[in-house]
Amino acid sequence: MTLARLHDWPALVQKKVQALDPRRMPRHIAFIMDGNGRWARMRHRRRLMGHREGIKTAKSIIRFCHDVGGIDCITLFAFSTENWKRPKLEIAGLMMLLKYFLRRETAEMVENDIRFRTIGRIDEFPGFVQRELHRTMEATANCKSFTLNIALNYGARREILDAALELHRRLAEGEARREQVDQEYFEKLLYTADLPPLDLLIRTSGELRVSNFMLWQIAYAELYVTPVLWPDFGPSELLDAILDYQNRDRRFGGLSGRPHVQGPESGIPG
Ligand code: IPE
Ligand code: IPE
Ligand code: MG
Repeated sequence: MTLARLHDWPALVQKKVQALDPRRMPRHIAFIMDGNGRWARMRHRRRLMGHREGIKTAKSIIRFCHDVGGIDCITLFAFSTENWKRPKLEIAGLMMLLKYFLRRETAEMVENDIRFRTIGRIDEFPGFVQRELHRTMEATANCKSFTLNIALNYGARREILDAALELHRRLAEGEARREQVDQEYFEKLLYTADLPPLDLLIRTSGELRVSNFMLWQIAYAELYVTPVLWPDFGPSELLDAILDYQNRDRRFGGLSGRPHVQGPESGIPG
């Protein structure tokens, strides 16, 4: 982080930033932004107030991840394929909040060279939200220094099924041959094809589950769960997660400190 930018953050955050190892930053962090409803209930407020606070958290996390350096991409889980089960009024409120977020933030994203994109079936969202989403994606299409990816109407099972159906189509229509198809090929059919591999998944508000989020991508991601509710989460809590991540030994099934070799030649006993 440049010194000028670092000075914008509280002293505790600055101290934690200085403790980071810049060579071991997670390039791609995903967040399950959970706990807005509980945050509101504790204050006897409506759930939508919790979501409004949640957007403030999202903004500060986006700004911080962009500023700190070494992080290329963040994914925010904002609406799942299962969230349609919620009351109509809450869903409508979330759509309005998303629309106003995009309206307000697009210019700043362009200014800060932040590319905006989404994963999930946004084609099933109301037209007025789709229009804002496409407007922001087009406005930021040439931005390069950081990617903000928002998961909207996203479900990992749906993503894998969509990829399987596309693979089936390609095979049936002769666009692909069976011999070509391996994990790398399949991965390119997922919504996340053009994003860096996921390094760290953070879930707020304590639930020990992944709720149908990035099931393929978390195969070797590091997981971090904090009891802090999303509206109370901030750069200081994020730095705790990154520092914890930096102290882990990512073995990818191999042994500590040895380079990762792929395939059976890596030494399965005969
Ligand atoms: C997460 O907060 C935000 C969305 C799913 C949009 P919740 O609304 O799930 O909050 P809790 O889990 O009820 O506290
Ligand atoms: C996960 O939170 C989805 C998002 C954060 C958008 P949920 O609140 O929907 O998950 P469950 O119901 O606790 O599993
Ligand atoms: Mg929840």
